[in-house]
Amino acid sequence: MTIPADQPSMLASMRVDGQVAVVTGAGRGIGRGCALGLAEAGAKVVAMARTAAEIDEVVGEIEQRGGTGRGVVCDVQDTAAMRTAFAELEQVDILVNNAGMGIAGSILAYDDDAVRAMIDLNCTAAVFVAQAASRHMIEQGRGVIVNLSSTFGKNGRPNHCVYSATKHFVEGLTKSLAIELAPKGVRVVAVGPTAIDTPMTHDRLHDPVIGPDLLSRIPLGRFGQVADVVGAVVFLCSPAASLITGTTLMVDGGWTAQ
Ligand SMILES: NC(=O)c1ccc[n+]([C@@H]2O[C@H](COP(=O)([O-])OP(=O)(O)OC[C@H]3O[C@@H](n4cnc5c(N)ncnc54)[C@H](O)[C@@H]3O)[C@@H](O)[C@H]2O)c1
Repeated sequence: MTIPADQPSMLASMRVDGQVAVVTGAGRGIGRGCALGLAEAGAKVVAMARTAAEIDEVVGEIEQRGGTGRGVVCDVQDTAAMRTAFAELEQVDILVNNAGMGIAGSILAYDDDAVRAMIDLNCTAAVFVAQAASRHMIEQGRGVIVNLSSTFGKNGRPNHCVYSATKHFVEGLTKSLAIELAPKGVRVVAVGPTAIDTPMTHDRLHDPVIGPDLLSRIPLGRFGQVADVVGAVVFLCSPAASLITGTTLMVDGGWTAQ
């Protein structure tokens, strides 16, 4: 969607009224925030999460705030089930390709399970979810995919070599897919958050050694909240961002500017 030439209001072009927005990993953290934010901006949200309890909570919250949402139980690492879930949707205008995990560890400490789990979720599942959404978007001739990158997708970080590598993968996926899908009317972008206080990171951000070290890398001097990421995601999904593709909007307090 582009901004209508006679758009009377810049703010109106940041809404996504009536668009179907699928969010993976919507049960908590950034995914939950994106589901709520996109619903507030007018989207019909399909919240994909691993458990019915998570879905009930987030969809209940969307409806309580006057939005439209429904839930689909979906483990994105179960590729066959994920494809079925997407095939059953009639329309997909927006995908927030959010489900991901980060396991810290030195190179000698990483075991098979941690390495394979991160690559399977952050890389392989991200590709197949984007593929499943792309089928709808190519047929519709429009759509937006927002991938979750990270400051660690731009910079290296000790004790995070695998997580950082998976987010560099997301950067490459975003750029190449953006070029491939541009002629089909589909935009592909990413957001790159710094340390955001979510269930995934909470303990590390409040660790007396790790917390201050992370904070010292952020020129704006604070950790992010989920809302900091949600605003960027909603903007990128909206007509106001209709000329933006193949790039990552950093939400990092200046981390990667250094
Ligand atoms: N929190 C941060 O500091 C931060 C910074 C940069 C990037 N990110 C990225 O943002 C995304 C969300 O992170 P978060 O902090 O909200 O994490 P989180 O752990 O709080 O939430 C992740 C969500 O993904 C879901 N999930 C995990 N595996 C899944 C699977 N196989 N199928 C479906 N859902 C699955 C979880 O159930 C959970 O609801 C991730 O891709 C993460 O790498 C987070």
